[in-house]
Amino acid sequence: MLVSLTVSDQPALVVGSDANAAAKARFLVDAGARVTVIAPTASADLTAMAEAGTVHLAARAPAPCDLIGVAVAIVAVEDETHARRLVGWARAARVPVNAVDRPALSDFSVPAVVRRGPITVGIASGGAAPALARLVRSRIDALLPERLGDLATFAARFRDAVKATVPTGRPRRLLWDRVFQGDIAERVLAGDEAGAAERMIGLINRPDQATPPEAGRGIVHLVGAGPGDPELLTLKAQRVLQAADVIFHDSLVDPRVLDLARRDATRVPVGKRRGAPGVGQAAIHDRMVAAASDGQRVVRLKGGDPFVFGRGGEEVAALEAAGIDVHVVPGITAALGCAAAAGIPLTHRDHASAVTLLTGQVQDGDAEVDPATLAGGDRTLVVYMGRAGASTLARRLIAAGVPAGRPVAMIENGTRPDQTIRTGTLAALPLLARQVGGGPVLIVIGDVVRAAPAWKSRTPSSAPAPAPSPVAAASIASAPIAFART
Ligand SMILES: C[S@@+](CC[C@H](N)C(=O)[O-])C[C@H]1O[C@@H](n2cnc3c(N)ncnc32)[C@H](O)[C@@H]1O
Repeated sequence: MLVSLTVSDQPALVVGSDANAAAKARFLVDAGARVTVIAPTASADLTAMAEAGTVHLAARAPAPCDLIGVAVAIVAVEDETHARRLVGWARAARVPVNAVDRPALSDFSVPAVVRRGPITVGIASGGAAPALARLVRSRIDALLPERLGDLATFAARFRDAVKATVPTGRPRRLLWDRVFQGDIAERVLAGDEAGAAERMIGLINRPDQATPPEAGRGIVHLVGAGPGDPELLTLKAQRVLQAADVIFHDSLVDPRVLDLARRDATRVPVGKRRGAPGVGQAAIHDRMVAAASDGQRVVRLKGGDPFVFGRGGEEVAALEAAGIDVHVVPGITAALGCAAAAGIPLTHRDHASAVTLLTGQVQDGDAEVDPATLAGGDRTLVVYMGRAGASTLARRLIAAGVPAGRPVAMIENGTRPDQTIRTGTLAALPLLARQVGGGPVLIVIGDVVRAAPAWKSRTPSSAPAPAPSPVAAASIASAPIAFART
């Protein structure tokens, strides 16, 4: 049985001087207790807490009178006899006591907890497996939004008003369900308390309405799904995915990321596939506006980051113009994800002091791009969507004075199980581009490619690497690149 004890502003005692004592003292401080630690020789951690004023530290041996008037006591000492004596003193003073790592001596166990303001989640294993309880705690911690405590505090502000206006029982329960599972909670969790309060007041004043007043204005999250590996998703992205009613997703989004969404969420593919027309941008806007106006929680899931070659800016503008609230959840853009997966540092003290992200959809005669500047000596140039224009790009860079032997990496399906990394020179770029398969491709040009460890050039998973075609293999072999760590 897990029972919660309120120790807020109550005196609490910890006896012990090691890391266990410090951890338990911190636990009690976080719970709001006034903590005294008795430690003849305190650890640096405890001394720092005392100096910061979070605990009172008594550098002496404990005595029975230390237990008098205390709400709760923790015994964190190594010696069994000493621990038994201290537990005896606590019992005589009728103080509930926990002896660390000694469940048989303890009146209660200290659960692993996740705190979000007034919300506390406790995980107890009855002393059987504290390490497992801590693991469960970290999983729950990752799931709960950072602002959950703000939501609880927000609800507390309106409790009396709800009590006064909405009849107890089912109507009140329904109202709170609507608050916590709808747009109002979304706004608080997104940091928009003013907007949430405005809607809450509307809801309290018209609680009987079948359609809440906030429906019709809707909410959309533009979420960055990262380059593929679902573990690269942010915690916030996972949370909004799990709350979404409908998800409009690009074709680049890895199916494993979509698997993290709520099972019954509607998934709508709106991405362009190579050789297929796809849904037009204006139609995507219209569909998002329609779904959000219908009161649905909409996620627009985009590969990488929504604001890096993702048309996120246009979508935000269209949604705002339609009066829809829109929030952006950033993602790991392909340049960062692929570079990490390939072991290529985009900047490096010895090789590059600047990075440029460029779209490869360049044509001969495009005026706005100055290739020599972008791919100059101590710069790294990262090219998105560069497969089709690889020959043009290589020709323009070389014509502008970039050495033909400049190192190049071509990363296909970066961070995914079928990732492949091909390396060569700028002169060999067109050949490398012909060698890649049908997956998304990112090109990195610059001396930083030399800093990648050679083993990264293999596929990262058990998936076999596709055999290089003879022509590409020859061009790569002739590339004057030594893969040495610098
Ligand atoms: C329309 S852009 C979208 C970029 C995305 N918003 C981002 O921040 O990564 C699509 C291009 O991103 C690059 N890309 C995205 N995911 C990739 C991956 N896993 N591996 C290699 N390149 C990738 C490719 O150049 C692809 O053609």
